[in-house]
Amino acid sequence: MTTASRPTPPVAPGRMPVIGHAYPMWRRPLEFLDTLTAYDRLVAVHLGPKPTYVLAAPDLVNRVMVADAANYAKGRSFEKLQDYLGQGLATSEGSFHLRQRRLMQPAFHHRQIALYADTMTRIAAERAASWRVGQLIDVTREMHDLSLALVTATLFSTALDDGLTADIHQAMPIVLRGMYTRVLDPTGLWHRLPTPGNRRLATAQRRLRGAIDHLIRTRRDNPQSDHRDLLSMLLDAQDSDSGEAMTDQQVHDELITLLVAGTETAAGGLAWLFHELGENPSVDRQLHAELRSAAAEPPAPQDPGRLPYLRRVLDEALRMRNPGGMTIRRATTDVELGGYHFAPGTEFIFSALVLHRNPHYFPDPTRFDPDRWLPDRTPVPRGAYIPFGAGNHLCIGESYARMEMTAVVAAIASRWRLEPVPGVQVRGVMTSTNNPANLLMRVRARENTPAA
Ligand code: HEM
Repeated sequence: MTTASRPTPPVAPGRMPVIGHAYPMWRRPLEFLDTLTAYDRLVAVHLGPKPTYVLAAPDLVNRVMVADAANYAKGRSFEKLQDYLGQGLATSEGSFHLRQRRLMQPAFHHRQIALYADTMTRIAAERAASWRVGQLIDVTREMHDLSLALVTATLFSTALDDGLTADIHQAMPIVLRGMYTRVLDPTGLWHRLPTPGNRRLATAQRRLRGAIDHLIRTRRDNPQSDHRDLLSMLLDAQDSDSGEAMTDQQVHDELITLLVAGTETAAGGLAWLFHELGENPSVDRQLHAELRSAAAEPPAPQDPGRLPYLRRVLDEALRMRNPGGMTIRRATTDVELGGYHFAPGTEFIFSALVLHRNPHYFPDPTRFDPDRWLPDRTPVPRGAYIPFGAGNHLCIGESYARMEMTAVVAAIASRWRLEPVPGVQVRGVMTSTNNPANLLMRVRARENTPAA
């Protein structure tokens, strides 16, 4: 708590009695976060009885995430998420988190990720081949399906039958929306009410847990089968010091965490990227030209150096339309930030959406300009560009996500141009992540597209 004699940070506009800023954060989070880009240090928002502070300056973010990370823990929202994710990487801390991270790291090593590249490229190309010229597609839904198909294929390889796939596909969106509502509920009571929505959520959670347990049991019962997937890596992982492996419960929690953390983020990122390509035909043309010239040898997502423009398009989409929601930390001791003093227990939010639109570091921030990432441009300071977070909780799936997004964009944009539909209003919505809603686009042939 700041003391009366000390200056207090500004409070974001639009605070309402009792619920504070919870309503705009739930209803129009992206618009609300956009208003916070006007603050250059930090600003208070009220999502519960005590204020939470949104950090808008890269140096403050870097101190909390990296330099002084020992003074901060994950906050209240992560505790609420444990009901859904158990003790997976995203919701655990301290020595347990470190041990899990060590066990899981090999499964996400870029050499291991390269083994998934062919699967990703094949599934993305099959999806692209299923579209027809002139077809109207809901790009966000397509990217969700595709991203879930890619994550499940690389997590579980051949182990998924149609029933399990359907269970996971149906349960995931309900669980993701439920998680976000739970995190923002300032009363902490909403999830206990016997509403139809909460009953649907409970059923979806049961189905998801059941599907994961079934996959683990089946694989444990057939240890000799040679699956080169993430599930096998997790089941076989052993701590190099103690030789300990993960229990089934830990594997379960990590798998649910990976499904949740890995599906919507990449899907939202891809959907926004196609939206920007549609809005920026010159960028789309330049990307297509690069993909065509790389087509002499098929695009190899595991070698992003071969597709430098696509890499810049990806970096720019992750800047301007970052799909990650918000990250939160709680001070575990007295801390000073931005000239203000805060008591232990104070919570801080950082959102890439606020940081990445700071005109000081990204001139003309709402312009989609992949060339701002050319190597000869001034690099942005530490903490200004954090699409995958930073510090000891840095996204373990970064290489995976980059590979996946590269494979999907290469497969789709080399074959089709996705064109915006006049009059359709695309808007951002936040579930646990930032996704475009109402993103209907028309499938148009490239000049080299095979007749379809
Ligand atoms: C564009 C896609 C993605 C974005 C923008 C993204 C963003 C992030 C961010 C910002 C964090 C840090 C959260 C924090 O500090 O509290 C994070 C953590 C995490 N991400 Fe991602 N992510 C993406 C894709 C993925 C994928 C594909 C996977 C897995 C297949 C994944 C798995 C995880 C996990 C397990 C954590 C927790 C890491 C830890 O706390 O040690 N993410 N992600």
